[in-house]
Amino acid sequence: MIKIMANRIYLQFIAILFLMHGHVLCGGGFNTQFIASEAKALLQFKHGLKDPSKLLSSWILGNDCCHWKGVGCNTTTGHVISLNLHSSNSIDKLQGHLSSSLLKLPYLSYLNLSGIDFMQSTLPSFLGAMLNLKHLDLSHANFKGSLFDNLGNLSLLESLDLSGNGFYVNSLKWLHGLSSLKVLDLSGVDLSSCKNDWFHDISIRLHSLETLRLSGCRPHKLPKSPQPELNCDSLVTLDLSKNYFNSTIPDWLFENCYHLEYLNLSTNTLQGPIPYSIERLKTLATLDLSHNRLTGSISSILGQFNGQNSLKVLRLSNNQLNGSLETSLHQLSKLVVLDLAQNNLEGNINDAHLANFSNLKVLDLSFNHQVTFNMSKNWIPPFQLETIGLANCHLGPQFPKWIQTQKNFSHIDISNASVFDTVPNWFWDLSPNVEYMNLSTNELKRCGKGFSQKLKLKTLDLSNNNFLCPLPRFPPNLRMLDLSNNSFYGTFSHVCEILDFNNSLEILDVSFNILSGVIPNCWTNGTNMIILNLANNNFIGSIPDSFGSLINLHMLLMYNNDLSGKIPNTLRNCTMMTLLDLQSNRFSGPIPSWIGTDMQILKTLILGRNSFDGNIPISLCQLKSLHILDLSENQLKGEIPRCVFPAMATNESVNEKSYMEFLTIKESLSFYQSKTKYPIPITWEGLDWYFIGGVVGLAKLIDLSSNYLTEGIPVEMAKLVELISLNLSRNQLVGSIPSNIG
Ligand SMILES: *[C@@H]1O[C@H](CO)[C@@H](O)[C@H](O)[C@H]1NC(C)=O
Ligand SMILES: *[C@@H]1O[C@H](CO)[C@@H](O)[C@H](O)[C@H]1NC(C)=O
Ligand SMILES: *[C@@H]1O[C@H](CO)[C@@H](O)[C@H](O)[C@H]1NC(C)=O
Ligand SMILES: *[C@@H]1O[C@H](CO)[C@@H](O)[C@H](O)[C@H]1NC(C)=O
Ligand SMILES: *[C@@H]1O[C@H](CO)[C@@H](O)[C@H](O)[C@H]1NC(C)=O
Ligand SMILES: *[C@@H]1O[C@H](CO)[C@@H](O)[C@H](O)[C@H]1NC(C)=O
Ligand SMILES: *[C@@H]1O[C@H](CO)[C@@H](O)[C@H](O)[C@H]1NC(C)=O
Ligand SMILES: *[C@@H]1O[C@H](CO)[C@@H](O)[C@H](O)[C@H]1NC(C)=O
Ligand SMILES: *[C@@H]1O[C@H](CO)[C@@H](O)[C@H](O)[C@H]1NC(C)=O
Ligand SMILES: *[C@@H]1O[C@H](CO)[C@@H](O)[C@H](O)[C@H]1NC(C)=O
Ligand SMILES: *[C@@H]1O[C@H](CO)[C@@H](O)[C@H](O)[C@H]1NC(C)=O
Ligand SMILES: *[C@@H]1O[C@H](CO)[C@@H](O)[C@H](O)[C@H]1NC(C)=O
Repeated sequence: MIKIMANRIYLQFIAILFLMHGHVLCGGGFNTQFIASEAKALLQFKHGLKDPSKLLSSWILGNDCCHWKGVGCNTTTGHVISLNLHSSNSIDKLQGHLSSSLLKLPYLSYLNLSGIDFMQSTLPSFLGAMLNLKHLDLSHANFKGSLFDNLGNLSLLESLDLSGNGFYVNSLKWLHGLSSLKVLDLSGVDLSSCKNDWFHDISIRLHSLETLRLSGCRPHKLPKSPQPELNCDSLVTLDLSKNYFNSTIPDWLFENCYHLEYLNLSTNTLQGPIPYSIERLKTLATLDLSHNRLTGSISSILGQFNGQNSLKVLRLSNNQLNGSLETSLHQLSKLVVLDLAQNNLEGNINDAHLANFSNLKVLDLSFNHQVTFNMSKNWIPPFQLETIGLANCHLGPQFPKWIQTQKNFSHIDISNASVFDTVPNWFWDLSPNVEYMNLSTNELKRCGKGFSQKLKLKTLDLSNNNFLCPLPRFPPNLRMLDLSNNSFYGTFSHVCEILDFNNSLEILDVSFNILSGVIPNCWTNGTNMIILNLANNNFIGSIPDSFGSLINLHMLLMYNNDLSGKIPNTLRNCTMMTLLDLQSNRFSGPIPSWIGTDMQILKTLILGRNSFDGNIPISLCQLKSLHILDLSENQLKGEIPRCVFPAMATNESVNEKSYMEFLTIKESLSFYQSKTKYPIPITWEGLDWYFIGGVVGLAKLIDLSSNYLTEGIPVEMAKLVELISLNLSRNQLVGSIPSNIG
């Protein structure tokens, strides 16, 4: 006791001494002089970073640096051995450059700078000299550029995580030096120039690796049979998702790596059946083979999992599996996650099939060939689901009563489920956790008592039903609300009161209803709005000035209403606009010339069937991406601008390489497809495309018919190759048609 006290006093004395000399202390060991240099190195490191939210406020000269946030010391020696500064929240994160002062921390063995923003810098080569490192985590830290071979010097490294940056590498030879490595995550590192060697270099390490993650690395193909015989006994976690593997699933994976607990091969283009050898994986807990082109009958696949008691998560969605679920489903009753969506499965499922699924939390059978839920009237499921995915399944005609037992779901999709019924009052606020609710494409009626204001709902899709009522009050802070194709009626003037969106709303679609009255001037909280679709209602009055607050608006659709007045000048604030469709109203006045100068990325401009007058502004020629121009049936005068819209004069062709990215875009748009009668413009691979009814294509159209346009047809028009439609009829054009118009 006395000795400790004496020690303390001694240490305090030393500390005071150093403070007086303007030195800093790390720890309380004997090498204080030496360790002061470590504190100094840390402060130099801090100096390289901007720290807007003062995360490093404890890093103050004079305080024991072992107590600084994120710094860890060896309690015996006082040396700094770990630095853990991961930033997770996206705002106010640390930002700056990685200082080589870290080299002056010779005992550092754990370095975690995950999530810090290193501003697209390249990986500094000094890291290869930090020879004591055992754990290095630089994931999601906004680095780019090539990885250095000298990483191979870090022979003590046990875990290396460089995922989520913009790295590329031409060779993985340096992995040979990392003889202690157990965990390797290179997800997102571009391995496409590594050729076939990549697998050889990885397999050198495979005999000791426990975790290997190479998601989105695009390496060259998976070998069919690796030479020499592969040893991956110790491998427990393997993630090869989001690559371009298009072979069949190789047998060796299951033959050799039979201790796998986590296997993710999703989002490749793997083909053929799932090999029988998967039976060997007796400890497999998570299997994700979703988003491939796998074939085979579901009953034989599930048969392979019979007796596989460890399996908890099974994702096979988005493949080409077929056959009937009935015979095999019961074999999976230990599962927590069952995702078989988007295959060609069928099945007539009753209470007995799901009787033993007491752990199930995620059930997704959406978008299959023909899955029918034929549950007895008072069925009480053994599970409490968090995800209910039953789109395109046959659940009706009554609203499924068993759903009333589910009180904790965050996601429910029972769209297109043949439910012809009123929505029971108990449904609307059944689960306080619901964030995503899709009831679209049924024949649902009655709005009932409406929503609890406490719901945290983000997405609500009630489109394509028979809802016949005034707009109800919605929960606040929605991000997407789709009410289209119903019979919602009555006033819209209180929309900002019943829909307290407070800058959260991104998509609002009330098209194809029978709403009436004016559109209120209350959109100042709409700065995040991307799509606003008010088409095909009975709206009157003019476009509100406060649409000028919708500065992120990409698409504004107001066609088929009874709107009038001029296009307000405030709309020139909407510089992100790609689609503007105001056709079939009673708008008047000139077509504003700022459309050409301020809405520069406009792809579709449809102002037809209104009463616009004046000239066609020559500034429209500046619309470099314009694909569709419809000004027909107005009172436009003067000449047709003598220009070529560049986007209409180019030949664009599909680039096979980016198929994957394209699929992602397609997915995010697919919910919105077919909601507009015109194609949705998108940019992909730097080109302008159109999304029409589920496919991407090119649409090019000019319709200036039925106006009072005079003068000739400009020769420039002839350059518009591949024009699908050019309609200049019913004008007062004189002169000859240019001879080279195709
Ligand atoms: C601390 O340092 C001592 C002496 O060098 C060493 O034996 C011990 O393993 C170290 N502890 C840690 C946690 O690094
Ligand atoms: C780094 O920190 C993040 C965030 O806490 C954590 O998820 C990750 O596992 C850490 N990395 C290592 C290698 O410990
Ligand atoms: C590290 O590796 C590089 C390249 O592999 C080598 O040239 C260098 O001498 C090694 N040693 C150190 C301490 O960087
Ligand atoms: C797999 O992809 C490669 C390169 O992208 C291609 O040459 C090959 O034809 C594809 N194989 C199959 C079976 O689709
Ligand atoms: C598999 O990988 C994909 C893509 O990286 C990811 O989205 C998915 O969550 C992973 N699956 C599991 C079960 O972890
Ligand atoms: C399943 O698909 C395969 C082709 O992938 C086909 O040969 C087989 O007949 C299909 N089976 C059923 C039950 O539809
Ligand atoms: C459900 O479990 C019980 C008890 O383990 C068993 O007797 C029954 O056969 C199982 N039902 C199905 C459909 O597998
Ligand atoms: C639903 O199940 C009942 C028995 O529970 C059966 O009589 C009926 O035919 C089934 N309906 C369908 C469509 O399979
Ligand atoms: C609804 O589901 C049926 C099959 O159950 C399918 O044929 C149809 O295309 C689906 N409709 C929509 C709009 O998805
Ligand atoms: C409810 O769901 C949430 C996730 O959405 C989960 O964290 C929680 O444990 C669940 N509660 C119950 C009682 O199942
Ligand atoms: C915009 O949001 C603020 C803060 O939530 C609120 O006070 C204001 O009433 C809203 N404005 C409109 C027009 O809804
Ligand atoms: C136009 O946008 C700016 C912000 O970019 C905003 O301050 C201004 O109020 C907007 N104008 C109108 C009329 O909404």
